[in-house]
Parts: sequence; C-alpha cells; structure tokens
Amino acid sequence: MSKTDALPVQDHEVTTETFLEDVYDGFDRDPRWLPSKYLYDEVGSKLFDLICQLDEYYPTRTETKILDQFGTQIAQCIGANALLAELGSGSSTKTRLVLDRLETPAGYVPIDISKEHLIQSAKALQDAYPDTEVLPVCADYMAEFVLPKPSRQPSHAVVLFPGSTIGNLEPDEAVSLLERMARVTGTAGGLLLGVDLQKSPEILQRAYDDSEGVTAAFSLNYLVRMNRELGANFDIGLWTHQAHYNEEIGRIEIGLVSEDDQFVHVGDRTFKFAAGELVRTEHAYKYTLGSFAALAARAGWKVQQVWQDEQRRFSVQYLEVD
Ligand code: TRP
Repeated sequence: MSKTDALPVQDHEVTTETFLEDVYDGFDRDPRWLPSKYLYDEVGSKLFDLICQLDEYYPTRTETKILDQFGTQIAQCIGANALLAELGSGSSTKTRLVLDRLETPAGYVPIDISKEHLIQSAKALQDAYPDTEVLPVCADYMAEFVLPKPSRQPSHAVVLFPGSTIGNLEPDEAVSLLERMARVTGTAGGLLLGVDLQKSPEILQRAYDDSEGVTAAFSLNYLVRMNRELGANFDIGLWTHQAHYNEEIGRIEIGLVSEDDQFVHVGDRTFKFAAGELVRTEHAYKYTLGSFAALAARAGWKVQQVWQDEQRRFSVQYLEVD
C-alpha cells in the first residue's frame, strides 16, 4: 500500500437533506435560483474540466499561462515554508504550477465539495509531491471550517483561490469571504487569486455558452442531478442553458430557462414554472483592476502584485493583510 492510500480526509460532505432544503429555498424566491455549488457532482466536475479545455473558455487557459510565465515571481511572493490552502481545488491542475516553484511548502490543503474528485486529485498530487504533506478537506468553503495542522510548523498560511471564482459571489459575499480568509491566514497571511476582467460582451458570452454545447450540458446536469438525488422529474428537453452579459453591472448572468409552462415535482413538493422563466444558477462578476482593489480593501486586503496576459483579459493577484 502506498502512503497515499491512507490520505486523511476532513469530511463535511453536503447531505441530500441540505441539498433539498437549498433547492426549496431557491425555488421559493422571486426570481428563482439554484445555488451553483451543486453544479459540481461527479459528472459536473468532469464536464467543468472539459469546459476548462475549450478554446472559447479563455479564463483557465489564460490564468494557467500567467501562472506558468510568472511562476518564479509568484513563488517569491508566497515565500518559503508556507501552508497553502486552496478553495475549490477541483483537479488541482493550476496548483502544480505554483507547487513546482515553491520553496519547501509546509503543506497543501485542497478544499472541495466534490468528495471523490477531491480524493482522487489529492492522491495524484501527493504522489507527485511526496515531500509536501497533502491534507484534503471535503467542505463547502463558504461555511466555516478549520485548517488541518501539518506535521511541520508552517511560517505562514496562503490561500489560493484561482479560476476567478471570487467573481461568482455577490460583491458583499465576496467581501465576507475575503474577511474570513484574512481570519484564517492571520496577519502574516497571503492570498493568491485569479480575477477575470471586464471585456467585450461577445467574448464573455461565448465563454459561458460555447459552440460545442459543453457548458449547456454542464448547466443541464443540475437538473439531472436533482432527478437522481432528490427524486425530481425535470424533463431535460424542456430547459435551455442561458448566459447573458449584463454590461451595466459587469456580470454574466447564467441560468436555465423553462421552455414551456410546466409542473415539476421535487421531493414531496410541486413547482410551477412559466414559459420563458429563468432560474438563475450563477453570476460571474467581471472586475477592473481598480474595482477589485477597492473590493479587497473593504475586507482589509492590499494588492501587492498583479500579473496579466498580454491582452489583459485576466489577472492573477497577490494580496496581503493590510
Ligand atoms: N467559476 C466559473 C466561472 O465563473 C464557473 C463556470 C464556468 C460556470 N462556466 C459556467 C458556471 C457555466 C455555470 C455555468 O467562470
């Protein structure tokens, strides 16, 4: 047995009851919405990995390029003996670009809601980096959780939050999460995060509604998951994926549109959807460097360095507690 077979996992996997309550709660609102974290079941996590490989979905490719190109500078900012905690670690692909250049990291804590995916990625990572202790946590990072302690004392903690996931939070929620990150890391802490930037609506909309329909499949998988796990009876053919860039607010509005008047059972309740009704699943806010710095400042973080691609589509930023 290799040592990674026994990786200890801190487990806060979301229960079916919580999933059902969250869906009821979202469907009782006006307009209706479905929390985006449930997009990432096993199938959803795999579809999202496919999205990340699409030409039209520029954020992953661009962020990866920035991390690769400026990896040495980034590693210098993070410093030696850091404990790294990654929120929504997924396949931890980008993490490797950071770990490859880091000086003696004290540990790596991948945090993800999708348990199987988390365990598989954590094992692969532990095998690739035998000298770095990998301590996976299965949790919703929007809830409170405690960082596991590595056996070697870290000099400081750095949160990794790539993928511009910060943009998926409403600005006030983003400030609360940034404040919580500052509490988790303490005053010597750092934050390395990806922030997607405002650009032409055409590029943005294509990124969230690709020509091959992978994003649509990812979106519709939400309904498939509810059918399977919550005993729902969504007719997948009666729903379409929609992504619209609201230029005034600077955000992509993503959701599922009901193509007809219909009744759907979920658990022991029945919901009526009107033809054309949009059920939102996700917002993706796009920032400018200035608007993001202002947001971070509200939470007590100061931007230390910003790295960008040549076309200035995306930014990777290193922040410290002010
Ligand atoms: N965090 C990703 C983003 O905002 C999530 C994402 C990409 C997404 N494509 C999507 C979420 C389509 C819902 C639907 O870029």
